[in-house]
Amino acid sequence: MNEQIISLQTEVSEKLSAVTDLTELDSLRVAYLGKKGSITALLKGMKDLSAEERKTFGAEVNQLKEFTTQKIEEKVKELGEKEIAAEIAAMPLIDITTPSSCECGSYHPITLVQRQCETIFKTMGFAVIDYPEIVTDYECFEALNIPKHHPARDMQDTYYLDNGQLLKSHTSAAQNAILKKYGKELMETGKPIKAIFPGRCFRNEATDACHENTFFQMEGVMVDKDISISNLIYFMKTMLSEVFRKDIKVRLRPGFFPFVEPGFELDISCLICGGEGCPSCKQSGWLELCPCGMIHPNVLREGGIDPEEYTGFAFGLGLTRLAMMKYGVKDIRNLNSGSLKALSQFTDDE
Ligand code: DAH
Repeated sequence: MNEQIISLQTEVSEKLSAVTDLTELDSLRVAYLGKKGSITALLKGMKDLSAEERKTFGAEVNQLKEFTTQKIEEKVKELGEKEIAAEIAAMPLIDITTPSSCECGSYHPITLVQRQCETIFKTMGFAVIDYPEIVTDYECFEALNIPKHHPARDMQDTYYLDNGQLLKSHTSAAQNAILKKYGKELMETGKPIKAIFPGRCFRNEATDACHENTFFQMEGVMVDKDISISNLIYFMKTMLSEVFRKDIKVRLRPGFFPFVEPGFELDISCLICGGEGCPSCKQSGWLELCPCGMIHPNVLREGGIDPEEYTGFAFGLGLTRLAMMKYGVKDIRNLNSGSLKALSQFTDDE
């Protein structure tokens, strides 16, 4: 083999084995194989040789070129692996078997009962509808047969915005929109209106163990031909027995609400004191849980539904009350307290 080639090959081997980083390696690649590199120069110089010499010399130079290329490739791989190993070694050690230090959150007790009620009503064919918290006077009162200056408004003083809108004082505020929206389908196809609409409500209220200025209700309506109080009682009973998973003592009392006729108060026996009387039930042994009634003809008419042809029931379930009963929360104020100690103890029992 040509002397020059032998010494160049030795040089390549030595220099490449001494290389410690990729930049240095690239400089060497350019020095040997680049346009002006020494191996390239050997190839270029071949034009001055005889045909015979060129054949053997050319083969040897090509061999050297291949040798160098292969050595460089091996070195690239070696240095790359070393770099990764160094990066890994510099990383902080993570033990993936260590238990996580971040605690899981829990659902708010009202969310739990709301979801449970939604599931129950969905299985009975009710749609679950979301409705805004800011509504108009018309939606909250007028459309519900509560004209301006009606005394029933006194019970529902709420928070007013400068533009005349208000924070809804009850979920009934969605009734008119729902009757209008689904009433058309009812009249055209005969499909009954069956909807529940849970939501946050607000009242200008002096707070105590059972009153809050912010609370949750879940309204429900069903409208079709021949809907009667028996339908109402059936749905209420089914829902309560599912929520509490046991027989709950209930009582129906007449109650006045301008948007239903007749109207009722559905009370359940206080589960905190067992009906003996305690601060949560104002010592009465009963808790008002679900006012309800047959939708007033004026309300149906305002929703575009002919009260001569269709009837319906409505109920306004106190979700906050229900959560208190179900989880034995004695003071309603705990629910809005943001206290994790108080609120994280509840879990879904589904
Ligand atoms: N919206 C009433 C309130 O918050 C509760 C209510 C009463 C709702 C009777 C109803 C109903 O749907 O039929 O005081």
